[in-house]
Amino acid sequence: MNLNNQKRTFQMKLRPLYLLIVACFCLFNGKLSAQNYQPSPENLEARAWFQDARFGLFVHWGVYSILGDGEWVMNNQNISVEEYEKLPSFFNPIDFDAKEWVAMVKEAGMKYITITSRHHDGFSMFDTQMTDYDIVDRTPYGKDVLKALAEECRKQGIKLFFYYSLLDWNRDDYFPRGRTGNGIQGRGEGKWEDYIAFMKGQLKELLTNYGEIGGIWFDGHWDQNEWDGKTFGDVKLDWHYDEIYGMIHKMQPQALIGNNHHIGIIEGEDFQMFEKDLPGKNTTGWGTPADQIGSVPLEVCQTINGSWGFNLQDRKHKTDKELIHYLIKAAGYGSNLLLNVGPMPNGKIQPKHKASLKTMGAWLKDHGDTIYGTQKGPIPPNDDFVSTQKGKSVFVHLLNPNVKVIHADEVPVRIKGIYDMKTNTKLPYRNDGFGLAIDVSKIDKDAIDTIIRIELR
Ligand code: GLC
Repeated sequence: MNLNNQKRTFQMKLRPLYLLIVACFCLFNGKLSAQNYQPSPENLEARAWFQDARFGLFVHWGVYSILGDGEWVMNNQNISVEEYEKLPSFFNPIDFDAKEWVAMVKEAGMKYITITSRHHDGFSMFDTQMTDYDIVDRTPYGKDVLKALAEECRKQGIKLFFYYSLLDWNRDDYFPRGRTGNGIQGRGEGKWEDYIAFMKGQLKELLTNYGEIGGIWFDGHWDQNEWDGKTFGDVKLDWHYDEIYGMIHKMQPQALIGNNHHIGIIEGEDFQMFEKDLPGKNTTGWGTPADQIGSVPLEVCQTINGSWGFNLQDRKHKTDKELIHYLIKAAGYGSNLLLNVGPMPNGKIQPKHKASLKTMGAWLKDHGDTIYGTQKGPIPPNDDFVSTQKGKSVFVHLLNPNVKVIHADEVPVRIKGIYDMKTNTKLPYRNDGFGLAIDVSKIDKDAIDTIIRIELR
């Protein structure tokens, strides 16, 4: 063996050791590099739970609710920092009752709540030591509403997630500033690294003081992207996601991370969210393209009217039918629905919204089997019908009562029988090279949803 060969053999023997050292270095050099993210068993279990849950309540609540003009009011009305900082002194939600909120959520058939801990206005709705610009220090109410909610959620078996804004219109250290809030007077210029440290400190508190949480729902990433009306450009600075995500996963392995950045998932994220659009759709202009949908659980967030935060003049309340259809469609796209309400400044949910949630809950009581714990079905969704599946049952939700024959491409499954779920009547069908056709012309259609069950072999 010549010297070169000897050297090569030696190198080959050492190669596995070398790779191991490199892998260890990547894992333990402080940063949990995104590329190395392996969800823990607790995290995978939480993902499975989340995927089965299918329905949650989104809550946008902050001092902005006083002005009754949505959560972007500071930006939209160009309210200066000094002026906006007067708002907390008027915020006194004496009618807030966590028990009532959680009971409402349960009755709606929802399994979790995602609430704004701090929105873009920078005001913290929880007791934080990282700033005194928070509900405990600055409002006459003086109590931590997230604490009350966390305790009640635990009692009633509902999971709690925290929405957390990455962007901030109040703090000087949110600098360089992003695309929004530039008409707000009184914003200073601080250091980005201080801002990152502030966020990490707050997130640590959210992960320490509220027991086991469902996860963190980030928003505002897009503030630092160029936006040409169609696409987001490159992000301009470092959000330190590797450290932030790594910290969350280390502190609470079961906590799921999602980020409303409208792009494909960044490693370290556990679910993917879609804002006001079903996965792959783009009616808003910022919908995530279909080819960027990952293999993690999905969640669509949607408003119950047209606003996230309380908006006094919003009359675009969705009808009960529209809301139930959205829930069904989301499930047909393999996604959860996170349906939003904006509580009023007194802490109450608008009666109209409460009534809609109740109706949805009643519908789910009867038909929840075809929604909870399902996956998207084998028949691709369209405006007239969507399908969900649980084991050997496929549920076709017929949303358009005028359809006489359900047509789709041939479904690559072996069918035992097809039934109208309400009457258990067997329906004529064919499923061959010409496609799938189910004759629903003879059955009574429901105005909201006629459910057809396909039994598979
Ligand atoms: C957008 C809005 C924000 C809202 C969020 C909910 O990102 O900026 O106000 O909280 O959507 O999805």
